[in-house]
Amino acid sequence: MISAADLGPELAPWLVEQRWFRAKSRGATQVRTLHATEPADGLVHLMISVDGEPYQLLLGMRAEVSEHLEHAVITRVDGLAVFDATQDPELMGILLDLIADDGSAGGLDFRSEPGVEIERGLRARPIGVEQSNTSVVYGSQYILKIYRQPEPGPNRDVELHRALRSVGEKHIAEPLGVISGEVGGAGTVLGFLQEFLPNTVEGWATATASVRDLLAEGDLHADEVGGDFSAEAHRLGTAVAEVHASLARAAGTTTVDRTVVDSEVGAMHARLDTVLAEVPELAREEATLRAAFDAAREPAGPLTVQQVHGDLHLGQVLRSTAGWVLIDFEGEPAAAADQRRLLRTPLRDVAAMLRSFDYAAFHLLAGEDADRQHLARATEWADRNRTAFCDGYAEVAADPREQEALLRALELDKAVYEVRYEHQNRPDWLAIPLAAIKRHS
Ligand SMILES: Nc1ncnc2c1ncn2[C@@H]1O[C@H](COP(=O)(O)OP(=O)(O)O)[C@@H](O)[C@H]1O
Ligand SMILES: [Mg+2]
Repeated sequence: MISAADLGPELAPWLVEQRWFRAKSRGATQVRTLHATEPADGLVHLMISVDGEPYQLLLGMRAEVSEHLEHAVITRVDGLAVFDATQDPELMGILLDLIADDGSAGGLDFRSEPGVEIERGLRARPIGVEQSNTSVVYGSQYILKIYRQPEPGPNRDVELHRALRSVGEKHIAEPLGVISGEVGGAGTVLGFLQEFLPNTVEGWATATASVRDLLAEGDLHADEVGGDFSAEAHRLGTAVAEVHASLARAAGTTTVDRTVVDSEVGAMHARLDTVLAEVPELAREEATLRAAFDAAREPAGPLTVQQVHGDLHLGQVLRSTAGWVLIDFEGEPAAAADQRRLLRTPLRDVAAMLRSFDYAAFHLLAGEDADRQHLARATEWADRNRTAFCDGYAEVAADPREQEALLRALELDKAVYEVRYEHQNRPDWLAIPLAAIKRHS
């Protein structure tokens, strides 16, 4: 069986180039094999540790690779080309057939969801969008997500999809099957098969197209241009509220007293401390931010918490012909697995989506000296769609704006996190969260 060591010095630079590889700036120094099996001829499943972080690889091995796979070749070992198997329609097709058969192979388990019949013999294609895992699409029916950093134990994405499915929630892609295995002695979900929704567009694409339309129209207002997004924002608000209601029904709710809110506010202050130390520009807003966080302690009475999406933004919602669909329930990417499972106020998702509307509105102006009219238009777009989203939400659940202080604190806390992220990764976009903090505080 091939191991990471057999792949030689070519593996590390290949890893660093991959979109899903996290520690790009640190590079990959120490690569160890945790686990290697061969679920099918010429298909190797490899769990590796890169400087202590586990990653999942699916590698193909073949004497000759066709031209369309050349880009996926990592190295050659003993005359065989070793390549990223997620890019190979045939090898990925084998995985689907294994799920259809409810089979086991190479120590991995392939299971379709109860009552689900999977069609065999479909070839796969890579999805071709920027993402943090790797997904392949089968025909127009299925999408398989290969988790690049699978964690031992229950998988939140799969569990919440199943819970939502069990109460008949419509605004999700149906869960169809799971690939799992024992990694380091613990059961681990490695892949997740779902209904593929053809002819969808990501919320981010539609929303930003609408902003572009508005900026191009010098004299018209948001309600007058063709690409007005507010009816969609309203529907999206309703869909998110319905998913929240379903999560509450399927997984329960509980009430927490204000000491929990107090410690949450304490955590906001602590995060602000960290970011202030890194980003001096934020110092001017410190007093107003702290006041906004403290204001969230105010309203008396218990707070209802439940499972939420945890990483909601316009890139995690798809508009299908039937309506909005929420995808990717893995939860907050920066948090540890046990933190991601905590019950939260659904206002967190609302605050996160409101931040996403703000990003959609202002990202086209980032990095340039925007003229006053453009800024006014973008502000108008953000206000209009944020309002529409909350209006839509309020059709199904309590209006999130009723808990104004908490919603504002959550939104500002998220913006503080974004300040740090942009400072480290996309300095051109730093102005987006900074301006939002100025506007709202
Ligand atoms: N059920 C689906 N139908 C159609 N496209 C999907 C579906 N699920 C995901 N996608 C597409 O794949 C992308 C990544 O999916 P996601 O589950 O968010 O993966 P990641 O964990 O890598 O972010 C989405 O942004 C979307 O474009
Ligand atoms: Mg995603």
